[in-house]
Amino acid sequence: MTEPDIKKGLAGVVVDTTAISKVNPETNSLLYRGYPVQELAATQPFEAVAYLLWNGELPDAAQLADLRATERAHRALAAEVKAVIDLIPLSAHPMDEVRTAVSAIGASDPGAGGSVLNAGGSPAENLERSIRLFAALPAIVAYGQRRRRGEDIIAPRDDLDYSANFLWMTFGEEPDPVVVDAFNRSMILYAEHSFNASTFTARVITSTLSDLYSAVVGAIGALKGPLHGGANEAVLHIFDEIGSADNVVPWLDAALAEKRKIMGFGHRVYKKGDSRVPTMKAALDTLVEHYGREDVAELYDALESEFVARKGIYPNLDYPSGPAYNLIGFDTLTFTPLFVAARVTGWTAHVIEQAGANALIRPLSHYDGVDERHVER
Ligand code: ACO
Repeated sequence: MTEPDIKKGLAGVVVDTTAISKVNPETNSLLYRGYPVQELAATQPFEAVAYLLWNGELPDAAQLADLRATERAHRALAAEVKAVIDLIPLSAHPMDEVRTAVSAIGASDPGAGGSVLNAGGSPAENLERSIRLFAALPAIVAYGQRRRRGEDIIAPRDDLDYSANFLWMTFGEEPDPVVVDAFNRSMILYAEHSFNASTFTARVITSTLSDLYSAVVGAIGALKGPLHGGANEAVLHIFDEIGSADNVVPWLDAALAEKRKIMGFGHRVYKKGDSRVPTMKAALDTLVEHYGREDVAELYDALESEFVARKGIYPNLDYPSGPAYNLIGFDTLTFTPLFVAARVTGWTAHVIEQAGANALIRPLSHYDGVDERHVER
């Protein structure tokens, strides 16, 4: 029998079409609905990019105002969701908390799971659910960080846009525009990236006609891993281990001798550099200047140049975003939940797209276990 051509990890396999984003590693570009992500990050509020991902076009002023009004109306953490979060031990990873909170929101949506036969929902219902999750996640993430610090929940502010309000609910201080801008850019850069592991997970779940919340819960589980979203948290652990730029060479000698993976470097698709890194690095630079933390930039540059020189493997988005979130004041454990708050826009756009042209995702496997045998009687 001929051996099948197995693509481990589905590497290089094109499984479907998508009109949401285009990743081109050859030209090092990433387009959301045709727009370069760098242009969107430089010019748009995150709400407008969310609208673009869901609807295919950037909003006009009235459409943006409408989305913002809906987002503001659903910002506050629902009492039942807060009660569920409060039951989770503080020792749990915040990604488990976010995953459970989204599951609780799904369980209290009367239309989502009532009948298995219509659990998928209509495109309009799913768009509404997407906007509500997008609106609810900042409160979940912000409250998670606050409760781990022993601080009280902070109510959202109606006079602030998405990014400024997110920072307000986390820190309880009016954020500086420089910080809001850097944070907004990070949200846009994290929003969407075609068939990455978590998005593919969401599409697999959707393909069974399950509901949008289940798809997002599954995607959060996939994102948690350090080979995917968990890497932004892992980058900060590495920075903490290294300490300062002058320790990079001995640290890297030891890490590579132990065959450790250096988190924040490498990418399944981009082999010559992640298209999102220059934009996020520029945002990090503004934060370094704002907070007067040149030591962070020195460590960043030293590790990057040393690792690229030795291995020819380039940084991915998590490399600049980790230290950027640290400078803003987020706890390291909160970094991957921030990724969830951003990527929920891409995930839900893919849920709607998958449901609109569905085929059950069910690949084959090549059996290499023991030959047929029988129970002895
Ligand atoms: N540190 C050290 N070596 C690396 C790294 C790294 N960060 N990345 C790749 N390599 C090496 C591998 O060890 C492997 O070497 P080998 O051929 O000698 O065994 C080779 O480069 C190929 O790497 P693979 O892991 O097979 O490539 P793959 O495409 O499967 O991996 C991945 C991509 C998982 C992202 C990998 O680069 C990695 O583990 N990076 C660290 C985790 C990380 O930063 N993830 C974030 C992804 S981007 C995002 O979610 C925004």
